[in-house]
Amino acid sequence: MYLTIIFLFISSILFSLLFPLKKHLSHFSYPKLPPGKIGFPLVGESFSFLSAGRKGHQEKFITDRVSRFSSDVFKTHIFGSPTAVVTGASGNKFLFTNENKLVVSWWPDSVNKIFPSSMETSSKEEAKKMRTLLLPFLKPEGLRSYVGVMDEIARRHFETEWANQDQLIVLPLTKKFTFSIACRLFLSMDDPERVRKLEEPFNTVAIGVFSIPINFPGTRFNRAIKASRLLRKEVSAIMRKRKEEVKAGKVLAEQDILSHMLMNIGETKDDHVADKIIGLLIGGYDTASIVCTFIVSFLADFPDVYKRVLHEQQEILTEKEGNEGLRWEDIEKMRYSWNVACEVMRIVPPLSGTFREAIEHFSFKGFYIPKGWKLYWSATATHKNPDYFPEPERFEPNRFEGSGPKPYTYVPFGGGPRMCPGREYARLEILIFMHHLVTRYKWEKVFPKENKIVVDPLPLPAKGLPVRISPQS
Ligand code: HEM
Repeated sequence: MYLTIIFLFISSILFSLLFPLKKHLSHFSYPKLPPGKIGFPLVGESFSFLSAGRKGHQEKFITDRVSRFSSDVFKTHIFGSPTAVVTGASGNKFLFTNENKLVVSWWPDSVNKIFPSSMETSSKEEAKKMRTLLLPFLKPEGLRSYVGVMDEIARRHFETEWANQDQLIVLPLTKKFTFSIACRLFLSMDDPERVRKLEEPFNTVAIGVFSIPINFPGTRFNRAIKASRLLRKEVSAIMRKRKEEVKAGKVLAEQDILSHMLMNIGETKDDHVADKIIGLLIGGYDTASIVCTFIVSFLADFPDVYKRVLHEQQEILTEKEGNEGLRWEDIEKMRYSWNVACEVMRIVPPLSGTFREAIEHFSFKGFYIPKGWKLYWSATATHKNPDYFPEPERFEPNRFEGSGPKPYTYVPFGGGPRMCPGREYARLEILIFMHHLVTRYKWEKVFPKENKIVVDPLPLPAKGLPVRISPQS
């Protein structure tokens, strides 16, 4: 009797272990798949993928496999899905130009669980809706009017957070800066105390978005789900108040992105609009703050580059009278500063890459990609390819002089129909940050030899980049 029970118990465990293995292997039983390893059942190679980033060399996951399989595409299994990773300009072009034909944008399960509303509509519809709503705010006419606001926030930021300090940690400050701009422009929220209170749950969600989706108390994913519920409540309350104000004619329907969305999104549920706003705020502040942080780091390492940026920014200042702020025309003069920011994004792209899902069976470079498989394109691996950027580890802003990099070799904002709609907005806030930074301060790193970058899930300098600062003479 006991033996029978033990036998049944063991066979049920074996069955449950073998079943996912069978399912895992069946994904890979098609003929002529790309070369590659599939890793363990369920988790595949997710841990190797994530740990390469945490060890500070995210592209190594890809370059190791490229040299091993000598192919422009390899197969793996990450974030719960069989995935083909494309590794260069031709793969990027293929994915970007086949959006909605052979592939659609796809985000890991963790994103859908943190933003459940994204599962209720298709990715194509979501993107179209979001883009239509964002366009009036992110097109050049809309952006022109932001220069003054961003400049004012930058001025206040440096006067309150940087002044009278001789040592500080850069990363939390740049996050504060870009988050304040997003709160002001998306929600018309200007009260520093309210902004500060919202920042923490936003950071928790941003960190959990690309974590392994294990919903267990204490995990990043679990904390992100809880923080997203709190944010949804907060943003929904702001929305309800705003709807009443718009109805009563107390505020203009076009005053910020929130009002614009509320007036134009039709019958969409409040939760969905709240998720959109939260997603936009996260997309809109985290990435740009990373660029600002690494600009501080590279300018400390390359004094000649710092001097050229300072010269360019001081030329703009000399043309101003009294306290006159920055204007759109000034931004257009910041050519070298933008080359520096572009080189920073080449070496440290804030989003290392994103996913697509195959909506048809197709072949790429002679390999079969089954419908339902995910595909991953990598900005990091593309930008570190010596065929596109000779001596790829060398920091050289002049690469962006003249016609700049060849198509599909420089992709910090992606490409094709899903290319980042916030890139011009990001350009403005990054350049305005650089202007105030160099015209006000000189700095040096507290740990000059510490250049480790941890990708977790976005790239960050180890220790958050502590610097010693002194006022510009
Ligand atoms: C330096 C800053 C930024 C970088 C490097 C960046 C990068 C990216 C990348 C790589 C994508 C994915 C493209 C793809 O899958 O092909 C993306 C999408 C997106 N970004 Fe950005 N982004 C930045 C700033 C912003 C800002 C400031 C906003 C909002 C104001 C924003 C809003 C979005 C949105 C809404 C999407 C989704 C677009 C879609 O799915 O169609 N981003 N971004």
